[in-house]
Amino acid sequence: MNDFWNDEKDIQTELELVHDLIISTVDKAQGFIRPVLHSHVKTQGKLLRPALVLITSNLSGETDRNQAVRIASVLEFIHLASLVHDDIIDSAQKRRGNLTVFAQVGAKQAVLAGDYLLACAMSLLTGKEADMDNVVVSNALVRLCESELNQDAGQGNFFISEREYFKRIAGKTASLFALSCYAGSSTAKLPRELRKRCHRIGYSLGMAFQIQDDILDFTGSESKLGKTIGNDLRCGIPTLPLILALKTENEKSTLERPLHDLLAKNKSLSASATKKAVSLVLSLGGVEQAKVVADRYGNRALNDIQSLQHEKVEKQLSSLFEKLSIRSR
Ligand code: IPE
Ligand code: IPE
Ligand code: MG
Ligand code: MG
Repeated sequence: MNDFWNDEKDIQTELELVHDLIISTVDKAQGFIRPVLHSHVKTQGKLLRPALVLITSNLSGETDRNQAVRIASVLEFIHLASLVHDDIIDSAQKRRGNLTVFAQVGAKQAVLAGDYLLACAMSLLTGKEADMDNVVVSNALVRLCESELNQDAGQGNFFISEREYFKRIAGKTASLFALSCYAGSSTAKLPRELRKRCHRIGYSLGMAFQIQDDILDFTGSESKLGKTIGNDLRCGIPTLPLILALKTENEKSTLERPLHDLLAKNKSLSASATKKAVSLVLSLGGVEQAKVVADRYGNRALNDIQSLQHEKVEKQLSSLFEKLSIRSR
């Protein structure tokens, strides 16, 4: 089982149920796509989104646990689908240490495999979940697609503003984290004000998480992360460490701007140009500055978490945040 949750046995036990439900849903697939989907869903990631559903669903004692597990599985299915599609867009070869679906079957079939996983998510929604109906789910999906589209349309333009970057990651990542916390609090039948606060907690956690993930693209270890490092730069995707490094370079009084010059010349970077850009971003302090921003979002989440005044949930969410801020995978 997933060792990320070793220190939280209650959550780990329910995450096993989530995993079982995902496997049994995918097992209904017909034809050759079944083993491909199977290989994608059987390697578990960190299961962050379903865990957020499960944790926040414990904010009251009113939750039907079967419903919480089902909704948690919906969130993981949406995430799994977004990974399949994201790996096509990013031409990524590795995911969770394995070949991506894209690398296994090519773009055409991977598009459909991702759609299939989205259909699996929908198949687990009865339409009768209070406050967690298709409209809420589709709103988050709309944001996710818009941001991935927007990022792809701007591919090769390394010179975007911090504001543009925050908008992108809010859509592609924070929206699903927010939906997860909102969904959990809905199954707990919490009043609207608290559900909104949970939504905000998920949003801030998601923003911090994506910034940390973008930092790992500069500093991480390929074997631990299970995906290729430097892929964002190579694909022409600007992220916060780069944006902040460029800003620092611009503010310097010297006339030399090697990072700017390197990126202005290329829409996507070769292996050696990527290496050079990474080392320039590090020496300009881009990673350090991005960490400060991630912590700012983390602290925002922690403040809201404290205001929930639920000792166990507060402890679980804050230790999750701790774990994520020092993660290497
Ligand atoms: C990967 O998400 C995509 C991002 C939003 C950065 P995770 O890091 O949660 O992926 P898994 O599920 O653990 O593999
Ligand atoms: C993460 O995309 C968001 C989605 C999967 C929708 P990224 O491209 O930034 O994440 P990784 O690095 O592939 O996991
Ligand atoms: Mg990617
Ligand atoms: Mg991507």
